[in-house]
Amino acid sequence: MSDTIEQDWGNYWQGRAASEAGTALVGVGVETNAEIAAFWTARFETLPKTARLLDLACGAGSVVRHAAALGLTELTGVDISKDAIATLKSEFPTVTGVVASADASGLPRGSFDVVASQFGFEYADAVKAAADAARLLGTGGQFLALAHSADSAIEAEVSGLGGDAKAVLDSGFISAARDLFFADMSGSSDAVFQTAAQAFAGPQAQVLTIAKKAGGLAAHLYQGTQTLYQQRKRYHLEDVLGWLGGMEAEITAFLGRMDSMQAAALSEAQAKAVVQALEKGGLTAQPLEKFLSPSTGDVIGWIISATDKN
Ligand SMILES: C[S@@+](CC[C@H](N)C(=O)[O-])C[C@H]1O[C@@H](n2cnc3c(N)ncnc32)[C@H](O)[C@@H]1O
Repeated sequence: MSDTIEQDWGNYWQGRAASEAGTALVGVGVETNAEIAAFWTARFETLPKTARLLDLACGAGSVVRHAAALGLTELTGVDISKDAIATLKSEFPTVTGVVASADASGLPRGSFDVVASQFGFEYADAVKAAADAARLLGTGGQFLALAHSADSAIEAEVSGLGGDAKAVLDSGFISAARDLFFADMSGSSDAVFQTAAQAFAGPQAQVLTIAKKAGGLAAHLYQGTQTLYQQRKRYHLEDVLGWLGGMEAEITAFLGRMDSMQAAALSEAQAKAVVQALEKGGLTAQPLEKFLSPSTGDVIGWIISATDKN
């Protein structure tokens, strides 16, 4: 796994997400979820257009998008990844982007009317982030978050995807493919080539099974390797090795993100601790509840909500 959450998400925001989708939950089924969009829209449409809204761990601005669509203009996003903020700014140039941890934004006390977060603040120290959110809210302000919960459908999906990514890395496919390309393209003897081909067969079968079941990065790796092999006369060895190295980094970062999503998921006790931190910060919390998909009844996450009653 790569060293930090920041690197794992940076890899994501620099890569396919930034160029193709621009939302952080691609692959786990909620990035374009109309039910989540409706959740935010219903809560934001009663806000005055002048409301100052902060999106904690905003990614490319999934929450900001709903507020902007309703005509709110005083929008700020905080994310630990500078690449996420760059993606946010490319789509919403007038939104203020801040590269910081959600538990240490350094923004001024009382400077927001709404602090919102979608699968975000819990990636930081959730209790510290909640305490800071209370500090950031002005009179009458509200905190509203949709947070990962340990029993959600997303967590089940993430656990499966992480398992598949780990199995791809553990199969040894990438190092065996490196050896095979090296043997083939650097003029090694037949014996060396045969040994490399035999060593590749097992990992190849394993990755094919995962690719057929899961698609995604496993399929991209499998098909890309196959295509490169078929067309190897058109490539230099270093290009092929560079592509394999890039895939290894991408899958490693993906696994890191899946692990971080699982680590971020709040148990009931942790969600209650977040609520306590909000109350300690002077807010009045609504009872903790789960957001259930209106269509399937699946648990999507916690709704954590609190208001400054002053
Ligand atoms: C699951 S994504 C959600 C992004 C966005 N809220 C959305 O719903 O599309 C989690 C985000 O948290 C960010 N992140 C991870 N750790 C963080 C931290 N300590 N502080 C702020 N952002 C963090 C990542 O860069 C990523 O953009």
